[in-house]
Amino acid sequence: MHKPIRKAVLPVAGLGTRFLPATKAMPKEMLTVVDKPIIQYAVEEAIAAGITEIIFVTGREKSAIENHFDISYELIETLKKRGKNEEVSLLQNIIPDGIRVYYTRQGEPKGLGHAVWCAKEIIGDEPFALLLPDDMNWHKKGTGHCLKEMCNLYNETGKSVVLSSSVPRQHISKYGVLDVNGSSMVNNHAPVQGFVEKPSPEKAPSNYAITGRYVLTPRILDILENTEPGHGGEIQITDAMHQIAKEEGFYGYLNDGKRFDCGDKVGFQIANLFFAMQDPYIAPRLQMFLENQGMVPVQSDCISTMQEEPATTKSTLIN
Ligand code: G1P
Repeated sequence: MHKPIRKAVLPVAGLGTRFLPATKAMPKEMLTVVDKPIIQYAVEEAIAAGITEIIFVTGREKSAIENHFDISYELIETLKKRGKNEEVSLLQNIIPDGIRVYYTRQGEPKGLGHAVWCAKEIIGDEPFALLLPDDMNWHKKGTGHCLKEMCNLYNETGKSVVLSSSVPRQHISKYGVLDVNGSSMVNNHAPVQGFVEKPSPEKAPSNYAITGRYVLTPRILDILENTEPGHGGEIQITDAMHQIAKEEGFYGYLNDGKRFDCGDKVGFQIANLFFAMQDPYIAPRLQMFLENQGMVPVQSDCISTMQEEPATTKSTLIN
C-alpha cells in the first residue's frame, strides 16, 4: 500500500510577459476562461482527483491569487442579506470545506525544478501532484481530467506518472519529451526510460510531450537539491525526473482528452471558445453570433437548443 496523494503543488510565480499589458497589474493565472480564472480550473482538477492540500508557489504581485482562494466574508454576508444564494455557493465552492491552502514563495526565477523545491518543507516525505496551471485539460468522461487516473496508476504501481500528449515533431522542442524506448502507449500508459527537456526535433526520443500534470514520489525533492541548471540555465524538473526514471521507474500517461495551452494567446482564445461552447447558456448564443458573421456554417437547431435567459444576465447576443 503506497502513501496516498494528498497534496498538490501549483507553481504560480511566473511573470506572464506573453500577456502584457493584461498582466501588468494582474497575475496571468487570474485571466479568465469564460467565467473562472485559469488557476481555479487547476484547483478544481486537483480536488476532483482527491487532493486535500493545495500548495501555491507564488512570487511578487500575486496577492490576487491569495485573495481569490480566501474567504471573502463581507461579500458573502452582503450577498446573503440580498438573498443571492446561488452567488454565495459559487464563492463558497472555490475552496470547499476540508481543503487546506498553503503559500510559499519562489524568490528568484530559477526554473520549474526550483519552484517545486521551494515547497519541499510543506510537501514532506510523501508523493504529490504537480499541476502547471497554463495547461488546461478537459475530458469527456465528466471528471474533466486525467489527474485522477494518473493517481490511480500511482496507487497501483507506486511509481511516478507524467501526463503526455503526442505532438507534431516540429513542435516538440517546446516541451519536455518522454523516452519510451521506441514503444507506444498501451491502455493509455507506458514505462518511461528517461526524459529530455526541449530537445531539437532530430534529437527528440519520441513525439510524446510532457503536458503539465505530474504525480511524483518525494525522492524528487532530494534529487532537486543537487540538480544543476539545465536547459535555459534553469533548474529543470525534467532533469530530476530523468534520474527518478533510472532509479525508481516512471510511467507516461497519455491524455486522451483535450489540452489547451493557455500560456499562449492562441491557446488561451481557443480554450475560451471551447469552454464557452460547453456552457448550455452561452453555446447557442455564441453559435448564432458566429453563424450571423458567416464564421461557421448555419445549424438550424441552434435556436431550439437555447436555454431561457437567466433573469440576472443581460442579453449577450451581438449580431
Ligand atoms: C514546462 C516544462 C516542460 C513541459 C511544459 C508544458 O515548460 O518544463 O517539460 O513540457 O511545461 O507542460 P515551460 O512551458 O514552462 O517552458
